[in-house]
Amino acid sequence: MQQYHKCQPAVMWQRNIIILSIVSALPACALQQVSYKEDIHPILDSNCNGCHIAPYGYGYQKTGLDMSTYHSLMKGTIYGPVVIVGDSRRSILNKLVEGRAGNLQKILHDAENEEITQKEVETIRDWVDEGALNN
Ligand code: HEC
Repeated sequence: MQQYHKCQPAVMWQRNIIILSIVSALPACALQQVSYKEDIHPILDSNCNGCHIAPYGYGYQKTGLDMSTYHSLMKGTIYGPVVIVGDSRRSILNKLVEGRAGNLQKILHDAENEEITQKEVETIRDWVDEGALNN
């Protein structure tokens, strides 16, 4: 019992610290939105646009997918969009970089994608889930 009394204030103090730090972290988290200009464009430019740029990129010539601007990225391929706004699970863009594109994966970019980092893959996922904004 005596020990319980001794410990109580310390525990309370720690709890307050934890609650305080969660509360003060919240506004920062809410503001941390992925930016197309700052984050996504540079990732696609350095990893993908060697091939996905009009008119001579190999990937562009094969699919019509030019990822050099927001609008051309959102236009997608000649078959349709590669970004489903708000749904990275179903977006082919995310499936490809995450290695979830099944048979397509082998035909497309197994080797080429080795350069892209896990952090970049997650950034693209968050951007799509946050609404794929032109921000
Ligand atoms: C070395 C060239 C090259 C690089 C680099 C490259 N791609 Fe591609 N990409 C292609 C080619 C070629 C195709 C078409 C394959 C085919 O249909 O035969 C393609 C197709 C695609 C498609 C269309 C899939 C569909 O719906 O048919 C997407 C999406 C795509 N690439 C995304 C990316 C992303 C994202 C990156 C960067 C992480 C990237 N590509 C890097 C060459 C490349």
